[in-house]
Amino acid sequence: MHTIQVKNKTFIPYLSEKEIQETVNRIGKEINTDYKNLQPLFIVILNGAFMFAADLFKTINIDAEISFIKLISYKGTRSTGNVITAIGLDELIKNKHIIIVEDIIDTGNTLHTFLPQLIDQQPASLKIASLLYKPEATIYPIKPDYIGFTIPNKFVLGYGLDYDGLARNLSAIYQLQE
Ligand code: IMP
Ligand code: MG
Repeated sequence: MHTIQVKNKTFIPYLSEKEIQETVNRIGKEINTDYKNLQPLFIVILNGAFMFAADLFKTINIDAEISFIKLISYKGTRSTGNVITAIGLDELIKNKHIIIVEDIIDTGNTLHTFLPQLIDQQPASLKIASLLYKPEATIYPIKPDYIGFTIPNKFVLGYGLDYDGLARNLSAIYQLQE
């Protein structure tokens, strides 16, 4: 792995494809055990979580469903503070066991805004699986139940995460060079 350039910024290798895949497998195993006979519904937050969700879902060997919503809150390397629902949930979640799939919990604003809408619909249970967690950036009290990596408060990209729409296609994760 080597340094990459995206637009005007330089990014250094941070989490390798192998580390990521091992971690995704570990989370999948935990979910297979915890949700045996519960038939969870994975709700994936687009765009960032698409790659993590696809890899995670392939490790699931119990009955499970998956659905997608699209929330937007980021522009460039900063959270804008307001969250827009670009594609909403088209399913009833009452009495279902919900696992929210996120790429990263940063300020926590996205889920802080969205979770009450889910809780209103009375799911049987609600947990969060996030590949990355930046506790130093968290403003709202959101802590994932399943965490891939706890990372420092630095901008990262790759493996679904973007900088201005770019670099989501990388299989590894890179960190902004400061
Ligand atoms: P929030 O601040 O927890 O609401 O995070 C909102 C969304 O911003 C996340 O789901 C990501 O899609 C995106 N995001 C947050 N931090 C980063 C980052 O370091 N790189 C790329 N995207 C990020
Ligand atoms: Mg996201």
